[in-house]
Amino acid sequence: MKDATARTTYLHDYRPPPFTIDSTELDFDLYETHAVVQARLQFRRNPDFGGVDEDMLILHGRELVLEELRLDDRVLEAADYVLEEESLRIPKLRSLAQDGSDRFTVYCRTRIEPQNNTALEGLYKSRKMFCTQCEAEGFRRITYYLDRPDVMSKFTTTVRAEREKYPVLLSNGNCIAEGECEDPARHWTTWEDPFPKPSYLFALVAGDLVSLDDRFTTSSGREVQLRIFVEPRDLDKCDHAMVSLKKAMRWDEEKYGREYDLDIFMIVAVDDFNMGAMENKGLNIFNTSCILANSATQTDWAFQRVEAVVAHEYFHNWSGNRVTCRDWFQLSLKEGFTVFRDSEFSADMNSRSVKRVQDVAFLRSVQFAEDSGPMAHAVQPDSYMEISNFYTVTIYEKGAEVVRMISNLLGPERFRAGTDLYFKRHDGQAVTIEEFVNAMEDASGVDLKQFRNWYRQSGTPVLEIDGFHDAERQRFELRVRQSCPPTPGQEIKVPFHIPLRMGLLDPAGREIPLRLQGEPAAVGKDRVLAVTQPVETFVFEDVAEPPVASLLRGFSAPVRLKYDYTPEDLLFLMSNDSDGFNRWNAGQELALMLMRELQEDFRGGRKLALPKILREAHRNILAEAVDAGAEADRAMFAELLRLPAESFLIEQADIADVEAIHAVREFLLDGLAESHRNLVADLFESIPATGAYRADAESIAARSLRNLALSALVRSGEKDWLELCLRQFEQANNMTDQLAALQILTHSRAGEGVYQAALAQFHEQWRGEPLVVDQWFSLQATRPHPGALAQVRELLRHPDFEIRNPNKVRAVIGAFCGQNHVNFHDASGSGYEFLGEQAMQLDAINPQIAARLITPLTRWRKFDSGRQQMMREQLSRIGDRDGVSRDVSEIVVKSVG
Ligand code: PHE
Ligand code: ZN
Repeated sequence: MKDATARTTYLHDYRPPPFTIDSTELDFDLYETHAVVQARLQFRRNPDFGGVDEDMLILHGRELVLEELRLDDRVLEAADYVLEEESLRIPKLRSLAQDGSDRFTVYCRTRIEPQNNTALEGLYKSRKMFCTQCEAEGFRRITYYLDRPDVMSKFTTTVRAEREKYPVLLSNGNCIAEGECEDPARHWTTWEDPFPKPSYLFALVAGDLVSLDDRFTTSSGREVQLRIFVEPRDLDKCDHAMVSLKKAMRWDEEKYGREYDLDIFMIVAVDDFNMGAMENKGLNIFNTSCILANSATQTDWAFQRVEAVVAHEYFHNWSGNRVTCRDWFQLSLKEGFTVFRDSEFSADMNSRSVKRVQDVAFLRSVQFAEDSGPMAHAVQPDSYMEISNFYTVTIYEKGAEVVRMISNLLGPERFRAGTDLYFKRHDGQAVTIEEFVNAMEDASGVDLKQFRNWYRQSGTPVLEIDGFHDAERQRFELRVRQSCPPTPGQEIKVPFHIPLRMGLLDPAGREIPLRLQGEPAAVGKDRVLAVTQPVETFVFEDVAEPPVASLLRGFSAPVRLKYDYTPEDLLFLMSNDSDGFNRWNAGQELALMLMRELQEDFRGGRKLALPKILREAHRNILAEAVDAGAEADRAMFAELLRLPAESFLIEQADIADVEAIHAVREFLLDGLAESHRNLVADLFESIPATGAYRADAESIAARSLRNLALSALVRSGEKDWLELCLRQFEQANNMTDQLAALQILTHSRAGEGVYQAALAQFHEQWRGEPLVVDQWFSLQATRPHPGALAQVRELLRHPDFEIRNPNKVRAVIGAFCGQNHVNFHDASGSGYEFLGEQAMQLDAINPQIAARLITPLTRWRKFDSGRQQMMREQLSRIGDRDGVSRDVSEIVVKSVG
């Protein structure tokens, strides 16, 4: 393997910085061929450094051309400093600085080439505009700096550029001056951000942009100007983001007492972006996919994603910006907490139980997979090679689950007291996860000592539970065993504090009052047991008949639960559990159990038969959905009717047989559609087609259930339904219905004869809308039929495909390798080879994207030995490339050892 991974950073090596930077004055001259950056930095010795006074100043910097360097008033000669690939050192500060080096200024002029920056980190060009991405370590590609989050500085930024091409020049904070340059074709603006911030929150934008403008009055009566900047063609797609932003601002005031603090809040949408969005102070930068929403061009899913991401970035203003991270090992301090905040926001704006179901389904298929693979790491990792690789589902989603557990353990009032204390105590500071937990403990009096293991230990804990009913004593015992499998670098685990929410149902489906042994009386019917030991038993009194246990309600902890349910128990829970989440979960467990058996049949070459109990379960849900009509939470019914996703089935298997998984799932979808065609038709017809489009939760739910029904009806093979689907495709007045119809045509057997024409028509209709074209790419890349890879290779040559645009890469290569399981895992290894070749090409262009893209290969342990070997071969090949990036190299080294 190449030695790009030589550098590992360890949490235990953390030291405060020897210097801090009180003020940062930046000056940008932007041209088509280069940019000149001048930085004036006021340094001061850090009183909290603790060590012996440093005589050396070490600044971070990468891919910069240094043109001039001054210390105080003195121009430094080449002999005064040392330039290395990622740093600039000034060894003899004391002799060079004017007043003995306690306070000094550095002036530095560097030259960079934004137009050639394809990594999309630092200052780069996205189509015709300039923009920045500094988190985590991108600022060092702009100028030499102490590019670490515990150095917080006041920024003043001047931007100069040609007026015609770049009429809009933005940076963080307030615009304090603007004018014309000496060259009358150029102009400038100066921005000042009054809040000290780490460099990763710096942002700059220059472009030919238009804006949607609005205002917001904060709870204390301050007026805030809101501006969303986009390219002119997208101005009609900003309303939903603006509405979402105002909702988020109000919600954060009401739920957390957090007010916005600047006079202006800006969002800019860019086409080329590695992630979803970025919370730069006062100037969020968004991937267009997370900001644009218009019913003609975006689906309901996109509307909900925009609402969630706008809120997420806005919430960072407090959880991330006002209180930031001391170092990147604390990343989940801001991300886990902020994901928890945005998911609660979405739950409040839409259906709470559906939001929970979706979050858990995602966590269990994606985060559990990460946690059992070679890249498993704790919510607070203890080392990394490349920090960009640690923006993971573990940091984000598992981190959010950990905060959710704290919020449940404390209850709403004490949790609010905890967050109030945290924000008050640490406003303006860069802190650690430990300080967050301390604030929670101090405000609530709840002991979280053992709970902290959730932050330190990686891997998904397993809860094995057995239930025993003692008829004579009228007792029910739950024997609980917890364990956690070994993960890289963590062979042995100590027990977690696992909050286990549960209830007991009597044979009539009623909730039994819960009295634990030793308690004088029952305490409610729904309780949280604190599981803290490797093995422990909970004894419930007054349980006359054998109950059915409803365990881990609401998914009260991110664990794997093992309990010996019979299919009948699960069917019973599906219809009787008072916990909506567990009703859904029982359905998933039932399907999972039956699908496993069918996979065995498939492998043994036996004929598959539709299990009666599954048919019955689906009939119950369908009947209920028809009866409940418009009153019901239709989105929840859609979730109840969905079979577990292939990605979840793969994660749940020890060794996944992708062909069997796919075949069985398709068999069940066909079988269920066939046996319930009349009920499904009733359901479909009971839901009115979309009239005037509305993006409220109720309309979204109706569309999702109706389109699910339509897909089953088309599957049943009747021509009328296929025609109806075609008509919906042609006549829909919104992208959700149109794309749902196109997906059915493209992915179903019934659509075989018509899908190509439909795809061509769709492209013709939407070729001018890049985000719609992405959808069009994905639909084809995820087509489960044989021959998909050839199709994907063709898509790569399509004029609309751009390898430099991350959204396009994700839509074609990412979708094929990450979602088209049968084709990616084709026994020939062609899918793996394809990813190998694409990843190598991409690594030279955009290492962050390349590193993310190879995730499917890192899951090799899940597959048979033949596939394992082929997957590892591709990983090694990728890792052996001359010039392999640190990003990709870390993943390869950790995955193949
Ligand atoms: N901090 C961003 C968020 O989660 C994500 C991000 C990380 C964006 C790194 C760009 C680069 O809100
Ligand atoms: Zn975030």
